[in-house]
Amino acid sequence: MRRHSKKNILAVVLLVGVLYFLNFLIAGRIISYGPIPKELTFQGERLVSKESWVERGDYLPLNVSYQVLAGAPSTQQRYLSIGLSSVKRKKGSYLIPTLKSLFLQSSPEERSSMVVVVLLADFDVSWRVTTAVEIKSAFSLELEQGQLVVLHVPQDQYPSLTGLKRNYNDAPERVSFRSKQNLDYSFLIHYSAGLGKYYLQLEDDVSSAKNFLSTIRKCVEEQEAKKTTWAMLEFSVLGYIGKLYKSAHLPLLARFLFLFYQEMPCDWLMSRFRDLLTQREPIIFKPSLFQHMGTYSSFGGTYNKLKDKNFEEGLYTNPSAEVYSDMSTYKKHYPKLALDAGEGFFWGRSPENGTYLTAVFTEPTVVMGIFVETGSEGKDLLESAQVEIGHNVITTENGEKSCKEFQSVGMLENGRFEKLEIDKKYSFSSSCLRIKVTAGQKEWVIIKKIMISTKPRTITHQT
Ligand SMILES: *[C@@H]1O[C@H](CO)[C@@H](O)[C@H](O)[C@H]1NC(C)=O
Ligand SMILES: *[C@@H]1O[C@H](CO)[C@@H](O)[C@H](O)[C@H]1NC(C)=O
Repeated sequence: MRRHSKKNILAVVLLVGVLYFLNFLIAGRIISYGPIPKELTFQGERLVSKESWVERGDYLPLNVSYQVLAGAPSTQQRYLSIGLSSVKRKKGSYLIPTLKSLFLQSSPEERSSMVVVVLLADFDVSWRVTTAVEIKSAFSLELEQGQLVVLHVPQDQYPSLTGLKRNYNDAPERVSFRSKQNLDYSFLIHYSAGLGKYYLQLEDDVSSAKNFLSTIRKCVEEQEAKKTTWAMLEFSVLGYIGKLYKSAHLPLLARFLFLFYQEMPCDWLMSRFRDLLTQREPIIFKPSLFQHMGTYSSFGGTYNKLKDKNFEEGLYTNPSAEVYSDMSTYKKHYPKLALDAGEGFFWGRSPENGTYLTAVFTEPTVVMGIFVETGSEGKDLLESAQVEIGHNVITTENGEKSCKEFQSVGMLENGRFEKLEIDKKYSFSSSCLRIKVTAGQKEWVIIKKIMISTKPRTITHQT
């Protein structure tokens, strides 16, 4: 009897204690309600840096079955895992030269510190078989030494790739293409998560600089010494190549790409991801360690030389932008292609006076140089047009973005425009670059490339 009553008293005391504590908690919540950005930032970084934080919970399972087509994942974690995804191309493949370049430019020591993961992401089985055979015969040693793994993810593992949202006025095929690309990268990154301490994203048509791994190692060490908060280091200014991540972030990144796969292209998603992990500004290392091979052979003349040189020096770093035009687009030669790295270009039917092509930057930026090339082999030049920069982003009646005010920085001459040191006169941040037609023409117009150099942003330190 006595014992029981003692227990009861203890229970009541405990209950009161718990209630009191709960009350305190709730009250505490109410009192501390409100924005505390500094602390949130700090906590965000701490949570995601814990090894496999996402993996430990069952909150967001990413259940993928992989087919290993060649090689075997090494059991020991290397310094660097390098991921690239490849699909069948109409014009020649650069996959084998890309892999050759990665291994040839590395010392034996560097090679043993890395593992290259190739996702053959095309659903065409005969292409996969041929490609896997080619890889096996060219890289038997690398496969044997765990420096190379070749994967595939069967089509039934992919969520729907048709009937997706049509964001950014993209045609359905374009939406399917970029959405699948996001899923390819998600699967690739998910697989690569544990293989290296750091992860480097590449594409299947790049050449690498000599000893790139040691350079990357040096840059990472510098960042660590400076205690920078970073989520992504950029070793190329192009699309989704030469981007370095910490392995601990990969489970999150894989899920992020998977969740938002139909929303926007992967290079936009990756800047959003960087932002979410509280790295405010891009951290870009120059000169670039990786370059596209694809563009070398296809374009001749001045364009080619200019482009190579500038990309090597990291001079032109087109800001991420949405591109609009009211010129009638021919086939799939969309306005955006004029700004994107690569072989694509804008092709419009006979433009009228006053029509435009406008790039609206994701973030305002100080424009230092602009290069515009139109036409191809002397045809489809834009005869008369003005190049303008603008600020104050607005949404127009037809749902496009533009700028409220524009200033002219010059006229195209013989279909070309090049101007440097624009920031001497216009030191403010711009949000738009517009090419405005000043006289209609019968001939169609090709805007082959617009290249913009922007003021290097200073790296912010958060410790
Ligand atoms: C993962 O998928 C496989 C096959 O689709 C299924 O058998 C398995 O139960 C799934 N596992 C989890 C944890 O959902
Ligand atoms: C183009 O339009 C502008 C503005 O309406 C006008 O000032 C200019 O004269 C036109 N150019 C030609 C060649 O018609």
